[in-house]
Amino acid sequence: MDNKVNAVKLLVTGGAGYIGSHTVASLLTNGHDVTILDDLSNSTASSIRGIEQVSGRSPHLVVGDIRDGECLDRILRGGDFGGVLHFAGLKAVGESVRHPARYYSVNVGGSIELLAAMRRHNVRRLVFSSSATVYDTEAEMPLQESSPSGHPGHAYGRSKQMVEQILTDEVGSDPSLAVAVLRYFNPVGAHPEAALGEAPTGTPNNLVPYIAQVAAGIRPYLEVYGGDYPTPDGTGMRDYVHVMDLARGHVLALDFLCAHGGLHKWNLGAGRAYSVLEVVKAFELARGQQIPYRITGRRPGDAASYWADVGKAARELRWTPQYTLEDMVRHAWAWQQVLARRV
Ligand code: NAD
Ligand code: UD1
Repeated sequence: MDNKVNAVKLLVTGGAGYIGSHTVASLLTNGHDVTILDDLSNSTASSIRGIEQVSGRSPHLVVGDIRDGECLDRILRGGDFGGVLHFAGLKAVGESVRHPARYYSVNVGGSIELLAAMRRHNVRRLVFSSSATVYDTEAEMPLQESSPSGHPGHAYGRSKQMVEQILTDEVGSDPSLAVAVLRYFNPVGAHPEAALGEAPTGTPNNLVPYIAQVAAGIRPYLEVYGGDYPTPDGTGMRDYVHVMDLARGHVLALDFLCAHGGLHKWNLGAGRAYSVLEVVKAFELARGQQIPYRITGRRPGDAASYWADVGKAARELRWTPQYTLEDMVRHAWAWQQVLARRV
């Protein structure tokens, strides 16, 4: 599946985290050399062992903060970096409502520091982790890259919109920059060998990790947030995309930037939506056991349903998602069992 391309020396911020670690493994498999900068605030060095296990190669890990310009200088001074993949950031929507300044500092301030360091060391390619949260989810479906922006009710979403704007302005001022903005829909699943995955601390915010903990007996039941949406079964519908497909999307986006300048935006989703109850049913099949759930009130801020048009990524990157919902929940469940053995 992975093809070797011209090897590039890369900096991957947040590369010890969930999506970053899968992407680093893919980059190494494709022959690239990777330095990870991660402060391990939401990950552990154990993901480096997982990366080594699945790729047979080692990234170089620097433990540090993306807002530390001197640290960035020490890394980039080594020279010859062909690009940066920028995953580092804070991502919990509810926490961003309670601590907005922290979110702007890390997500926006960190991106500005990174861009300044890239300028100092003449690094010209950047792949940025954005989110479907930038869209107006009341817009016509499926969402295209040109669909209207929304007004996210939280600092997390606004921080992604701000960084997208900053990147647009930077490319406008410096045509030698090449930037890929990847708008992920709902990343789920884990590495098929169960060597890498998401390891939420505390109560998971997102659906699939929560179901996995119910399946493992850590939590008694799933609260389904709303059963009265205008959807076929009344529960919210989202576009779930396997983290391995996302990882491949990054490798292809980087290849694209090696051949094209300018700023490019791509949706990375499955291109279809599943309801909460469809995800529960898929998990029950993978687990071979029922998942207890109770339908409760809607979660404030949740949209009924949205999904991506992924035609632009298919045309320009030759990226189409390969994993099914069944794969996503089967791999999430296998990974949950690995996590349970670690405790
Ligand atoms: P994650 O928390 O697993 O990974 C982020 C990594 O960044 C972690 O390893 C964390 O330790 C590190 N980090 C945080 N602050 C840092 C700092 N100041 N300096 C250095 N490292 C720092 O999250 P993820 O799910 O892998 O998400 C990666 C990116 O994708 C984030 O920017 C996130 O906003 C974005 N994104 C994620 C989702 C999702 O559902 N997971 C959806 C859309 C967009
Ligand atoms: C959430 C964030 C979004 C972020 C994305 C990252 C909110 C409002 N949105 O999206 O900004 O980019 O995560 O993946 O937090 N659900 C339940 N019970 C649960 C958890 C979720 O019923 O315990 C439902 C939700 O109502 C939703 C679906 O499951 O319909 C998916 O929820 P979730 O995984 O949290 O993702 P989003 O809300 O789509």
